[in-house]
Amino acid sequence: MPTTLSPQALPAHIDALTRAARAMTGSREDADDLVQDTLLRVLARDRAVEVEAAGAYLHQALRNQYVSTLRQRDRRPRTAPLESEDFRLVAPTSGDPSAGKTLFTQNCGSCHTMKNAGTSGTTGPNLDDAFGSVRTPANGSFDESTIRDVVRGQIAYAEPPMPQNLVQGDDADSVATYVAKCAGVPACGVQATGAQATTTTGATTGGGGGGGAAAAQGKQIFTENCGGCHTLKDAGTSGTVGPNLDDLKPPTAVVDRQVTNGGQVMPAFKGKLTPAQIAAVATYVSSVAGK
Ligand code: HEC
Ligand code: HEC
Repeated sequence: MPTTLSPQALPAHIDALTRAARAMTGSREDADDLVQDTLLRVLARDRAVEVEAAGAYLHQALRNQYVSTLRQRDRRPRTAPLESEDFRLVAPTSGDPSAGKTLFTQNCGSCHTMKNAGTSGTTGPNLDDAFGSVRTPANGSFDESTIRDVVRGQIAYAEPPMPQNLVQGDDADSVATYVAKCAGVPACGVQATGAQATTTTGATTGGGGGGGAAAAQGKQIFTENCGGCHTLKDAGTSGTVGPNLDDLKPPTAVVDRQVTNGGQVMPAFKGKLTPAQIAAVATYVSSVAGK
């Protein structure tokens, strides 16, 4: 139902706007100013906006305000290149979605479900649900660049339990671009680059190097499901939500039990990983931790 956007409707959106603004400006103070200027501008006139569209509308207003601020601040002719950092964050197609898919699977999938990436984490919101619905005209038709800003802001300014800056710079842009294209659009057609498409072959070519193949499988299971929360040098992961496993050096049985049942914060993987997969990751962790 179209209503006039009123000051009462704004607080619900300010957190998300501030995160997006911080990703654009790179500074808390500038972000607060940008959000304030945007809201002042939006409230200066009566705006008839669908209630559900208010978020998308405000994010678009924020982006417009940011671009006009850049142009004012930088009095050179419009053809002069913007500072590269600013430009990267404004340009709607800057990231590489294929690289983003790989990075998403490695860094985000342990906490977030997203069909196209094949991830099923449940600690954070399901991103297909979060961004699928806002793409429809009834819900405001968020465009890709708006979703990208929101995701980029979330990566940089996440609050616990989601760690800040799990991926940075170009990598963060790529993840944001990938999520913007594929969240809620499982058939987006993005192929992961550098993906370890070797899992299944690795696991089935047991013959000569059974131990090696099982270790490779355990490592991949770890990278995809655990690395976002745990540091483990052999797997190249640096999560800090759970204990550093190189320091903990847990025996196989402890890992097996913890993965199966979960902890207070850590989700249970029973039903998500097969007993064989849990055994593989437990063997892998106990054999490499601290080495
Ligand atoms: C340790 C678990 C964890 C990891 C790893 C993680 N997240 Fe999150 N994420 C969360 C939680 C919990 C929330 C909800 C809390 C909040 O909104 O601040 C969240 C919220 C979000 C949101 C906001 C969704 C919405 O409905 O507004 C986005 C977008 C997001 N995460 C993207 C990512 C991306 C991209 C990565 C990888 C770079 C990532 N997350 C890694 C736990 C995680
Ligand atoms: C969402 C974050 C998260 C994910 C994903 C996660 N963990 Fe954990 N893990 C934790 C936290 C937090 C703890 C501390 C105990 C608790 O849950 O309160 C923990 C504890 C552990 C422990 C220590 C158990 C003990 O008794 O000391 C092991 C081992 C472990 N995790 C392994 C794994 C493995 C292997 C995976 C992947 C299959 C995994 N974790 C996935 C957050 C996570």
